[in-house]
Amino acid sequence: MVSTSDSSAESVPEDGGELGLAHLHESARRIAMLPDEERLRYVRADRWIGYPRATEALEKLETLLAWPEKQRMPNLLLIGPTNNGKSMIIEKFRRSHPATSLPDSEEIPVLVVQMPSDPLVSRFYTALLAALGSPMRPVRYRLADLEQLALRLLRAAGVRMLVIDELHNVLAGAGDRRREFLNLLRFLGNELRIPLVGVGTHNAYLAIRSDDQLENRFAPFTLPRWETDADTCSLLASFASAFPLRRPSSIATTEMASYLLARCEGTIGELTSLLTDAAVAAITSGEEAINQHTLTLASYAGPTERRRLFERELA
Ligand SMILES: Nc1ncnc2c1ncn2[C@@H]1O[C@H](COP(=O)(O)OP(=O)(O)OP(=O)(O)O)[C@@H](O)[C@H]1O
Ligand SMILES: [Mg+2]
Repeated sequence: MVSTSDSSAESVPEDGGELGLAHLHESARRIAMLPDEERLRYVRADRWIGYPRATEALEKLETLLAWPEKQRMPNLLLIGPTNNGKSMIIEKFRRSHPATSLPDSEEIPVLVVQMPSDPLVSRFYTALLAALGSPMRPVRYRLADLEQLALRLLRAAGVRMLVIDELHNVLAGAGDRRREFLNLLRFLGNELRIPLVGVGTHNAYLAIRSDDQLENRFAPFTLPRWETDADTCSLLASFASAFPLRRPSSIATTEMASYLLARCEGTIGELTSLLTDAAVAAITSGEEAINQHTLTLASYAGPTERRRLFERELA
């Protein structure tokens, strides 16, 4: 499933008609007729591709958002390797519950905050206030004031779910800082009675697990690395129909899935980069399909190779 909001080109018959573009998703068909430069820009842009685990995560988030206010609200921990689609899911969810402007305020049903890399409670509150559209002036506030201000603004903005991305940064803090932050999470949950959603790598899970009370309030939901299976083939089919190439790309096969995952080491982010580079090569070479040849032409280097190249440059 591919979604895009581009509607800049003329409409094309439902099935791609005589243009031979029946292999493409409807939105890509219109783009496929545009000049190379525009097609390249489209290929490189972000797009949302639905897949079963993401749909499940979105459903879980919907359920949480609709949860009746209770003394003890359930929370969710979305965990997975880096570059594996966690923030994309959050962004997709946030877009489906956008902020609305009221005469003199804003209602923000889903608030997303990034955990600062230096996990200080004061930094977190500053980030929270910025996300609420109330960036702090460079005045030194006492922590208790920051806390009160944040709670007041969260309530005023009608925030019904607080998402904390990059939660693994909590582990970067020393023991007492970490504890202070975990206390803050418990405090926010109790005070606001809204679901909290933590997002991060395995270290986010370890951080939550280090506090018994939080551990049993955060239900973990994992986004594992991709494997050679039907889900990956289906994802590849979606990519193939989303890139505006004029010939069909036969990449939704087990052999191809196995080759691609080995090269990109199993995350959807790396897979996207590899396929994007191959699609670029498909356009610039005139081959117009992702196949063994354009995959060889692709400039993409996998994470391990990039690390090796980087280290060689440093040596
Ligand atoms: N559903 C999707 N459809 C299309 N592309 C996706 C999707 N999910 C992820 N991607 C691609 O993967 C890249 C990485 O995704 P994302 O930023 O969500 O990863 P992440 O898990 O949040 O990583 P990190 O832990 O490093 O923040 C995106 O920039 C995008 O190119
Ligand atoms: Mg992310």
